[in-house]
Parts: sequence; C-alpha cells; structure tokens
Amino acid sequence: MKICILSGNPKNDGLCQAVIDATKLGATEGGAEVDEIRLCDFKLIRCQVCGDGWGPCRDENYCTYGNDGFDEIKYRIQSSDAIILVSPVYWGETSEALKSFIDRLRRCEFNGKEILRDKQVLLIASAGGTGNGLLSCFEQMDRFCRHTGAIIFDYIGVNRWNSDYKHLAAKTAAYAMASGRKNGETV
Ligand SMILES: Cc1cc2nc3c(=O)[nH]c(=O)nc-3n(C[C@H](O)[C@H](O)[C@H](O)COP(=O)(O)O)c2cc1C
Repeated sequence: MKICILSGNPKNDGLCQAVIDATKLGATEGGAEVDEIRLCDFKLIRCQVCGDGWGPCRDENYCTYGNDGFDEIKYRIQSSDAIILVSPVYWGETSEALKSFIDRLRRCEFNGKEILRDKQVLLIASAGGTGNGLLSCFEQMDRFCRHTGAIIFDYIGVNRWNSDYKHLAAKTAAYAMASGRKNGETV
C-alpha cells in the first residue's frame, strides 16, 4: 500500500506540518509507504486555459505544459493506492498551491481515465488564525473529489485549540486507511 500526501502547505513547521507529520506516522505504522508531495517545492504554472477553455486536457487527459512538474506529480498520485489531501486554510479556501494544482488536475480527469477514481482520499485542513473557513475549504476539496470520482474517507479540521486531539484523529485515520479499512465497513 502506498499513500501519497498531496500537500499545499508552504511551511516546514507549524500547525499544518504537525498534522501532516502525524498522518505520516499513522500511515507508516499501518504498513504503508508514504510519498509526501510538497506542491510549493515545484515551480508549477497555473492552468493556461488553452483552446478557449476547451483544451486537449479534457479529451486526452494530459496537460500541454505538464513538463513543469505536473506530469511527475500526476504519476506519483497515480501510482499511489490512497491519498491524503492537505492544506492550510487561506481566506476560507485551500492554499493557492493546492487550488491551482487541483484546478489543473481536474481538467485531466475525464473519459474513464481518471487517476483518482475509486481511490480513498483523506481530507485535512488546518485553520490557524480565527479557526474560521474550515467548511468552505473542505467544500472546495470535496467538490474536487466528487468531480474526479475519488472516495472521501474522512474530513479532519484542525485549529489552534483542537490540535492535540485532532493530531491523534489524523494519525489514527491514516493508520486505518493504511491498514486497508474501506468506506462502509463498520468498526
Ligand atoms: C493568506 C492567509 C490567509 C489565512 N486565512 C485564514 C482563515 O481564513 N482562517 C483561519 O483560521 N486561518 C487563516 N490563516 C492562517 C492559516 O490557516 C494557518 O497559517 C494554517 O493553519 C497553518 O498554520 P501554520 O502556519 O502554523 O502551519 C491564513 C493564513 C494566511 C497566510
């Protein structure tokens, strides 16, 4: 079992990275190999909205500009069995890094050739300021998962005053996913 952490977090420490590290621990303890993709480490461009919005991505499942790192990331997601999608909450949304990446990826998710279809995805958002905006951030992630046919395993919203017990929840959720727990099973 390989679990890919697709992270829109720009920082190497702090609230968001701490919850990512908790999922890494849980996934590893559950027997999974972990591949953490830090989107901010790449110089990814935004969608160029080719072909007046009807570019080849929608028919042929590829991005014309994929050699900026997009193709590599897509391959790493494709070769994983389950995904942890994680972002800090910025103005009630996912970070720009994650937002622009999922904007691009959803265009390539068509024609029965989706790389996320039927993959379990654990959604994690960390709101560090007011603690507001978790729901709207999750809504963005949720819409992406519905579009791509991914299966949402759980939603874990972390803030400054719940991080102790939410870290535990994140670690346990990653452990459960790594151990092969499927949506619909009763525990
Ligand atoms: C541009 C920007 C917008 C933000 N918007 C929100 C917000 O809407 N709600 C909130 O609770 N925190 C907000 N924050 C705080 C981040 O969510 C917080 O930094 C995040 O949880 C990660 O924590 P960390 O920096 O300790 O890793 C914002 C931070 C930035 C940089």
